[in-house]
Amino acid sequence: MAAKLLTILLVGALCGAAVAQNCGCASDQCCSKYGYCGTGNDYCGNTCQSGPCYSSGGNGSSGGGSSVADIVTQAFFDGIINQAASSCAGKNFYTRAAFLNASNSYSQFGNDGSANGTKREIAAFFAHVTQETGHFCYIEEIDGASHDYCDSNNTQYPCVAGQKYYGRGPLQLTWNYNYGAAGNSIGFDGLGNPGIVATDVLISFKTALWFWMNNVHSVLDQGFGATIRAINGAVECNGGNTPAVNARVGYYEDYCSQLGVSPGDNLTC
Ligand SMILES: *[C@@H]1O[C@H](CO)[C@@H](O)[C@H](O)[C@H]1NC(C)=O
Ligand SMILES: *[C@@H]1O[C@H](CO)[C@@H](O)[C@H](O)[C@H]1NC(C)=O
Ligand SMILES: *[C@@H]1O[C@H](CO)[C@@H](O)[C@H](O)[C@H]1NC(C)=O
Ligand SMILES: *[C@@H]1O[C@H](CO)[C@@H](O)[C@H](O)[C@H]1NC(C)=O
Repeated sequence: MAAKLLTILLVGALCGAAVAQNCGCASDQCCSKYGYCGTGNDYCGNTCQSGPCYSSGGNGSSGGGSSVADIVTQAFFDGIINQAASSCAGKNFYTRAAFLNASNSYSQFGNDGSANGTKREIAAFFAHVTQETGHFCYIEEIDGASHDYCDSNNTQYPCVAGQKYYGRGPLQLTWNYNYGAAGNSIGFDGLGNPGIVATDVLISFKTALWFWMNNVHSVLDQGFGATIRAINGAVECNGGNTPAVNARVGYYEDYCSQLGVSPGDNLTC
């Protein structure tokens, strides 16, 4: 990256204010009118050439910043994790930087083409993370090892002796078949080393985003209730655990309010 940045700066210096044809910025950065990579209004504002520009063609962008990094500010992230007690394991594990880093691998996350859609998806994601981890308190499921999350009928992702597939990470990845598939997709040994989801924060956030993109992202347009169904519907929906449903909805409404978007319809399940 350092070598690449140097090249861009040299080209910029040689050509003065000439418009560079190709910034080659990282996915979370905008290409300014002079061909420099960065974030904020000078780069992502109305002369932005490419990347997560604030107004990419004017399809619903509010102009207030619509990239994931602009919306998930440090203040937004801290507003969640600061509610976890200082004794919480997750407090020294989960970081905004790791989340943003992981989100760079999922370009369709928060990218439905409208700023409001992006905000709703982010609000929904963090609402479920808040419920699953207790405001980022937990890395691993409480008493996880006492549960059996081995579906021995799944022959594609056979359980490895001695390993446990209980909830770990921001969305509490569970079951051998999820660990196996997530590992194959992200690039770690999900069946042989599921514990890495609780020790490597980048992999941890990637498993949450992997689960989200494969199971939740496609039902967002049906309302927040459908996302609850996708994550824990069998246990919570249809009166299964109404307090849990209400807690998820409450977090979602709070985050939508913080991000300045209405929560939409069909909130419960
Ligand atoms: C804006 O919306 C129109 C119609 O839905 C679509 O054809 C166009 O590609 C969109 N532009 C961008 C930049 O998303
Ligand atoms: C986005 O949401 C805000 C707040 O709910 C609303 O005022 C605005 O009209 C919405 N924009 C679009 C393009 O739907
Ligand atoms: C982000 O990803 C890069 C490349 O994998 C890595 O070098 C860096 O340490 C990561 N930062 C965090 C906070 O995860
Ligand atoms: C595996 O399949 C058998 C036969 O269909 C069924 O009785 C059993 O409950 C299944 N086990 C699991 C863990 O799903």
